[in-house]
Amino acid sequence: MRQLCVLTVLMGTVFCFAGSGQTTGLSQELLPHLEKRGHATQLIVDGKPFLILGGELHNSSSSSVEYMKDVWPRLAAMHLNTVLTPVAWETIEPEEGKFDFTCVDGLLEGARENHLKLVLLWFGAWKNTFSSYAPGWVKTNEGRFPRVETSDGRGTDRLSPFSTAVRDADARAFAELMYHLRQVDGKNHTVLMVQVENEVGVIPQSRDYAPAADAAFATGVPAGLTQYLEEHRSELNPELRAVWEAAGAKTAGSWQEVFGSTPLTNDLFMAWSYGTYVEKIARAGKAEYPLPMYANAALVRPNYQPGQYNSGGPLPHSIDVWKAAAPSLDMLSPDIYFNDFAQWAGWYALPDNPLFIPESQGGTVGAANALYAFGQLSAIGFCPFGIDDQGNQPLDLAGITNPSDHPDSNAIGSLYAELAHLTPTILKGQEENSTTAALIEGEAQRSARLSLGDYTATLTRAMNASGRSSRIAVLFIQLSENEFLVTGIGNGQVTFSTEKPGPPIVGIESIDEEFFENGAWTPRRRLNGDESSQGQALKLYDSDAGQGRIYKVHLYRYR
Ligand code: DGJ
Repeated sequence: MRQLCVLTVLMGTVFCFAGSGQTTGLSQELLPHLEKRGHATQLIVDGKPFLILGGELHNSSSSSVEYMKDVWPRLAAMHLNTVLTPVAWETIEPEEGKFDFTCVDGLLEGARENHLKLVLLWFGAWKNTFSSYAPGWVKTNEGRFPRVETSDGRGTDRLSPFSTAVRDADARAFAELMYHLRQVDGKNHTVLMVQVENEVGVIPQSRDYAPAADAAFATGVPAGLTQYLEEHRSELNPELRAVWEAAGAKTAGSWQEVFGSTPLTNDLFMAWSYGTYVEKIARAGKAEYPLPMYANAALVRPNYQPGQYNSGGPLPHSIDVWKAAAPSLDMLSPDIYFNDFAQWAGWYALPDNPLFIPESQGGTVGAANALYAFGQLSAIGFCPFGIDDQGNQPLDLAGITNPSDHPDSNAIGSLYAELAHLTPTILKGQEENSTTAALIEGEAQRSARLSLGDYTATLTRAMNASGRSSRIAVLFIQLSENEFLVTGIGNGQVTFSTEKPGPPIVGIESIDEEFFENGAWTPRRRLNGDESSQGQALKLYDSDAGQGRIYKVHLYRYR
């Protein structure tokens, strides 16, 4: 039984009450949760699949309820349904053991007034490897809360994941947050999920060299990890499996004996250490209120070594280490700002790890990536970072050949406006394996192909007066054998062929531009002639189309 004091400044009163911390008394089925439905694992909210059309706030926006007052309506106008909102440890526990949830309550209120859902980001012991969001009473007590040390004994501005004092204080604050959420949101479900810490990992060296870290390193690889590797050998990330097998696929030994003597071994050691730390935090939080939880990863720039990048974060090569260390997490999620979006996203879209992208680029590039993630990888959500800056810039067309390439254009808002109506069909398609998508990422990539039952679709750049887009995506939902709902981003076109037995040529019977009216899709224009290259292609970018970028396409075959 824990005794807890909550200081509620808003109401000017102090409540003390006891909580069991053991059972939440809430049926998990009724809470937001992840569920395997057909071919996809989906986020279920109030009994129905939910697609997060999200965006993440700048780091400091949610520290002020007042500041957010103007932001919420703008995000709602951009057709977001969910906002990723930091909650800082220093804000909720400014004094040890005294909790102030005024800000959290104000954020919930603002979101609800604007019909938005939230994913809360727990900026606890770490935010981007640093510990800048820890309260002053933690930061200034180095004796009690030790820091990551370099190999020559220097301290860093990072709390050590090997400190039980840090872990227990962090876990306690997080548990109080989750307990509070259960009290104020257990029925409303405004908060859908929670991110535990933010982009953990160690910099500037590949591991922590504090005495407790050295001691843990000397203990060797825990049986819990080697057992996981053995049990999941055939599904392991290929890079991890290769280093483990190259060292003899041992089931016990020192970290170097099991994984070899390269800097990657330190990364795996830190992955286990951060993973087991985060497990304690997540478990403490879920004991109070079991919402879906995940950890996010800062990805690796080309040729960066562990310690140059966040060593120990949930990266593709250490996903399995994190899964073994932190079974209470529901997902490991990539923050994707780099090129090669399809490759990075694909590494996280695994049968036991649904894809959720908490941070990414916005603009046209982000919109195209989102379409690909939802259509091809059954992502449960997509969230451009710094969303409070997007969509509020007037579109300046001077010197821009293709408005959809303008980085400040409201590409995310336009996409989400379309997806708001398309979402139920996409979710059904994810479940039935009838959504699919293709992405062209850069100038070097000429085309992308998709298999659509009897048909093959080929996406290429359209070359016309309206210019070229650097990134192009198309999403197909197969409605019946010959009928498809399609949407796209960028200046591309789609042609159709077949590799299946039967009549060898594919014709376009019709393309209708659709819009959503009174709860149903309604044809607006029949696209033919110049708008479909004389019936030979579906053109994704049509300067006359305005908002209408959803098409119903009928195909047929002939000889
Ligand atoms: C990644 C971090 O996770 C975010 O909080 C933010 O700092 C962005 N980088 C800024 O680009």
